[in-house]
Amino acid sequence: MPKPVVLIAEELSPATVDALGPDFDVRYCDGADRAQLLSAITDVDAILVRSATQVDAEAVAAATRLRVIARAGVGLDNVDIPAATKAGAMVVNAPTSNITSAAELTVALILASARNVASANAALKGGKWARSKYTGIELDGKTVGIVGLGRIGALVAARLLPFGVKLLAFDPYVQAGKAAQIGAQLVTLDELLAASDFITVHMPKTPETIGLIGEEALRKVKPTVRIVNVARGGLVDEAALAAAIKEGRVAGAGIDVYAKEPCTDSPLFEFDSVVVTPHLGASTEEAQEKAGIAVARSVRQALAGELVPDA
Ligand code: MLT
Repeated sequence: MPKPVVLIAEELSPATVDALGPDFDVRYCDGADRAQLLSAITDVDAILVRSATQVDAEAVAAATRLRVIARAGVGLDNVDIPAATKAGAMVVNAPTSNITSAAELTVALILASARNVASANAALKGGKWARSKYTGIELDGKTVGIVGLGRIGALVAARLLPFGVKLLAFDPYVQAGKAAQIGAQLVTLDELLAASDFITVHMPKTPETIGLIGEEALRKVKPTVRIVNVARGGLVDEAALAAAIKEGRVAGAGIDVYAKEPCTDSPLFEFDSVVVTPHLGASTEEAQEKAGIAVARSVRQALAGELVPDA
């Protein structure tokens, strides 16, 4: 009997294939290359992706026997879940695999932005010893606004509290008591925007959250605020943020994710006060290993007709 076919459409940790074991015919393609994806997906039983592959209605329709779509990470915004469900394909992810990595990169970008690490590094390597130009600010005594107090937001809170910050949080799905346990004061979005020295966003990308930190929100912040987005591109409107920085309404930013990825020409790239990374939130050895093993296990269980427990 032929083995079920598993298509790996993005670079995943080698632990993924080890965890799948010998019972599958494992194939590879570049899921970001649309033509390659649509051709490779036609006769596979499962597909494994990260965030660069759009498993949309067209991709699902091109697959004749797809039973599992596995997302080696948290966000599911690149998978058309209703189309998958209609076609009888199960969608699985690894919801806790990379939360520590995402929280750590958030703290890295907050600190890098506070202390001009990236621009000072670039200047010095370019032969400029510019100490006064790169005077920064301390975190101690500052107010950090966390937009989205889910798993990642809570980990960010725990990592920031030892710096001596005051934490505010906005999250329509979290009670004030729960926020207090995490060490944050639950406030409205407007209160958070008005009071924060740093604002960091940790929400999924949905029609409600796209553009949440856009032109209107950026008119309500302090001119000294620094904005960090390690969640999803589009939650912070890049053009609106660039305009706010240009007009001195925002002091700086740390940005890991973009409305359109890969991105090599964001309007934010022109500013010394903006530190950027290319969607690296989940890109650690540890997170990739955890995500790969978790989804490989789910694929095995799903293709064997077993119940797939929540990770
Ligand atoms: C996630 O949603 O978990 C990350 O964006 C994963 C990734 O970088 O692939």
